[in-house]
Amino acid sequence: MTERRAFAPGRVNLIGDHTDYTGGLAMPMAIQLGTSVSYSPDPAAQTLQISSSAYPGTVRLPMALPTHRSAAAGLEPEWARHVAAVLALVQPPFGGHARITTTLPIGSGLSSSASLDAALALALGFEGSAAELARLCQQAEHMATGVPTGMLDQIAVSSAVAGHALLLDCRDLSVSQVPVPPGAKIVVAHCGVARSIARSAYSKRRAECEAAEREIGPLRDAGATSLRRLSEPVLRRRARHVVSENARVREFAEALARCDLESAGRLMNESHASLAVDFDVSTPELDRLATLLRSSEGVYGARLTGAGFGGCVVALSEAAAATGGLEGYESWIFENKGPASLVAA
Ligand code: GLA
Repeated sequence: MTERRAFAPGRVNLIGDHTDYTGGLAMPMAIQLGTSVSYSPDPAAQTLQISSSAYPGTVRLPMALPTHRSAAAGLEPEWARHVAAVLALVQPPFGGHARITTTLPIGSGLSSSASLDAALALALGFEGSAAELARLCQQAEHMATGVPTGMLDQIAVSSAVAGHALLLDCRDLSVSQVPVPPGAKIVVAHCGVARSIARSAYSKRRAECEAAEREIGPLRDAGATSLRRLSEPVLRRRARHVVSENARVREFAEALARCDLESAGRLMNESHASLAVDFDVSTPELDRLATLLRSSEGVYGARLTGAGFGGCVVALSEAAAATGGLEGYESWIFENKGPASLVAA
């Protein structure tokens, strides 16, 4: 039977972190790094045998897995949990051989897992809309990690439009495209510390937001007056991040649309400060790297991107700027790519 190949990009979130799971706003864009999966179905095979360029060894999984967390939880190696979850949800009719190749740094806030889930689902035969693919991948993420993540990564990976960032409204999952101005360059650097979302305080932050919402209602609708009603200082800070970040995403989208990179950069700096001080998801390494990037000629602003707790910083700079001082850091200049798709053989 013919081999099926799929590619899914990673994503960098330009602004709007820890807003998705309260129905907030975010502005991701797909990037040229991503995951390729090739799958050779074999009607005689009872298992899927799969290997990854990122890890040694081969994993063999049965075809009839339950669409329940038990299909994936506890499997070793850890990356096999994602494969098991996607396999359970797609339920391809045949086993066979598959190979994963990734150019994304793993656990770095660039959506390596959403990229893997989407490429694998498409290679295994998933057919559906971009929104359905995003939902399947979110379910796979929950099955694989047990962490109640939002939809930011999966929508970005499944619905990206080349040359654009996406203004994503997580209340109704609607997206609109905002062109990235030709005068802008998106620089991303890795702080040197990887993070595992499952071992981070991500679930705790989400629970804190939910606790705030039980007191004052949806954070998406909250303003300064309702924030003042939160008596617990930690919850007030968490909620203040979400409310102010939603406002910054709107302003950032407007600034990009009028090619006002100065304002866009200032909003990124403010977003980082809010994530660090109010939401408490930055680290000394991320703070240092953001400061370093901001000190470079032609850089308008820099912020941690994704969940935080380690991983990457994204900076907005003049297209012509040579971002200096990044020796010793892994870094990239990102182009805006299109969505996850099958690749013609
Ligand atoms: C991770 C999650 C997303 C989102 C970000 C923070 O990437 O998977 O759903 O919550 O963190 O914005």
